[in-house]
Amino acid sequence: MSIEKRVTFGSKLGVVLATVGCAVGLGNIWRFPYMTGVNGGAAFLLIYFVCIIFLGFPVMVTEFFIGRKSRRNAAGAFKVMAPGTKWSIIGYNGVFAAFFILGFYAVVSGWTLEYIYQAFSGSLSGKSAIDFKEDFDSFAGSDFRPILWTFLFVLMTHLIIISGVKKGIERASKIMMPILFLILIILCVRSVTLPNAHLGLDFLFKPDFSKINSSVILSAMGQAFFSLSIGMGCLITYSSYFGKETNLQHTALQVTVLDTLVAILAGIMIFPAVFSFGIEPTAGPELVFITLPNVFNQLPLGNIWSLIFFILLGVAALTSTISLHEVATAYMHEEYKMTRSRAALFVSGGILILGIISSLSMGRLSDYTIFGLNFFDFLDYITAKIMLPLGGMLICIYVGFRVDRKVLKAELTNEGTVPFYFFNTYAFFMKYVAPIAIGLIFLNELGLLSKFQKLFV
Ligand code: PFF
Repeated sequence: MSIEKRVTFGSKLGVVLATVGCAVGLGNIWRFPYMTGVNGGAAFLLIYFVCIIFLGFPVMVTEFFIGRKSRRNAAGAFKVMAPGTKWSIIGYNGVFAAFFILGFYAVVSGWTLEYIYQAFSGSLSGKSAIDFKEDFDSFAGSDFRPILWTFLFVLMTHLIIISGVKKGIERASKIMMPILFLILIILCVRSVTLPNAHLGLDFLFKPDFSKINSSVILSAMGQAFFSLSIGMGCLITYSSYFGKETNLQHTALQVTVLDTLVAILAGIMIFPAVFSFGIEPTAGPELVFITLPNVFNQLPLGNIWSLIFFILLGVAALTSTISLHEVATAYMHEEYKMTRSRAALFVSGGILILGIISSLSMGRLSDYTIFGLNFFDFLDYITAKIMLPLGGMLICIYVGFRVDRKVLKAELTNEGTVPFYFFNTYAFFMKYVAPIAIGLIFLNELGLLSKFQKLFV
């Protein structure tokens, strides 16, 4: 595909909202609260912030550089920028990560459809907290229903993808993201006015440093990468559709801030309610699905609130599933010269197979484990905690050591037309801090760091 002919997003707002749409999703509203709950609350949040600022932001800017400079998909980008080398392995890692993430993400997205259906049919009202938990467990563990919803969700994603970049991705994001913000704020207000809400706020904002250990740090880093959609070329693919005038630094800053804001709002929406209803914050993946219907039951017109919320959760999921799908579709379309719709068909088929296995791994196949994790958790683990940080580390090493500083600066400043005040600080973090920190966190988690220390102490 020639550079001139490549489609771009139609407007500045379109760029930001499509990219925010990619970043903001189940990762913020479903995964962030449950990860925070499992990893001890505020201490996790603190490390998460550190990871966002010092690792997430520099990696995002670097991905934008690669995408807009090369104007290609995640793997093709490295073929353009580093022809004849092995760097495109970063892109392949990303394409596989997109499949693997969608393998569990599409299942959770399907759950949102079940809850929309239940809210619509009125069956969420009049239940106790225990009922919500039991009903969720029996639904998620059943054979047929979750798979049907997963299929429907993949179908919706597929249809948007084949309508193209501008009409499909950009238009969908522009309408859906602002509504999501509004509804989140309203729900936060409701949650913090529940009895005992302060316990939830303490859990979220008062750190207990004794809770920090290597696995909490790895989880926080994984969450930062997952939430910002970095480390796997998704933002390389999206920024390949940015126009020449897009300010890459501002866009990265806006996306990072908005994504983090949505995660915090989700925390404020969930934890006061968790404590108010006596639910365990460590409940795991089901946390949002058992907590929020409880909150809505306390409101007049509870079913309508549930309906609105789950529609929005589904929408947030959809703007992310399309971005994940796009990574693989753009790769197959451009590198194998397939038509876009044929490429999309292959991708959707692959996701469905993984989705079916991971849905069944919550029930019928739960005895089959990989490294002690069911298939659903395994896909989550290897993507968020291994493939994305590894991808981010390699992206930084590639740009830090293989790309001429002047070329980097020219792209990030739109050929010198916009200033980049902290360019040297950014470059230092990208080249040294991010790769070393990610490497150390990996070593630490593998237990190798303490063995190494013992050699010297
Ligand atoms: N960032 C998305 C979320 O928070 O739900 C998930 C995601 C989308 C991860 C796209 C990675 C990606 F490339």
